[in-house]
Amino acid sequence: MHDDQEPLSGIHPLLAERFSPYRFDPSVAVDDRALGLLLEAARWAPSAGNSQPWGFFTSRPGEPDHDRVLPHLAPSSARWAADAGLLVVALTRRYVDDTQLLYSEFAEYDLGQAIAHMTFQAQAMGLATHQFRAFDLEGLTKELKPNPGWVIVSMVAVGKAADEPLKTRTRRSLADVRSAPWSPMP
Ligand SMILES: Cc1cc2nc3c(=O)[nH]c(=O)nc-3n(C[C@H](O)[C@H](O)[C@H](O)COP(=O)(O)O)c2cc1C
Repeated sequence: MHDDQEPLSGIHPLLAERFSPYRFDPSVAVDDRALGLLLEAARWAPSAGNSQPWGFFTSRPGEPDHDRVLPHLAPSSARWAADAGLLVVALTRRYVDDTQLLYSEFAEYDLGQAIAHMTFQAQAMGLATHQFRAFDLEGLTKELKPNPGWVIVSMVAVGKAADEPLKTRTRRSLADVRSAPWSPMP
């Protein structure tokens, strides 16, 4: 009997082995080539109507832009994200310029997919990712001043993992994933 709390053998190792580390090795940098490939992977994600409603702000330790981002991390994420070789701020284009008109009904959905591409590209390059929302959204928005219509959604720390997956990692069962949206049959 397969244990629901272990990835089923047969899913790709990039998927099975991915986890969000709570420690990064501060001595491992993300170089320009790696950064370019991570953004390239995101760029080739599918999106509704090819709307590509994503944008990224990147910074690495030692870069002036890193000092613009670090003060806005929450204490809970600063503990590990500050050591990552790269911080990515992920934005989506939610509205058309400064109107309330939706740019795309799927803006957040598509951004998530682009981040998933980035995540697996990182994994393929021996880097780990930890996505997070533990930052001061208002403060970071004031600092980075995205164009009208663009909103910051999440952040991703990328670097060399310096810990192991938590023992407490869990997943809902396959049966629940398939049945939860519906009431039991009469
Ligand atoms: C949109 C999003 C926001 C998240 N925010 C946080 C966060 O603020 N702090 C944190 O420690 N982890 C955060 N995570 C990581 C999740 O907690 C983690 O992916 C989940 O527990 C599953 O663990 P795994 O990635 O190791 O499989 C976030 C993940 C996503 C996708």
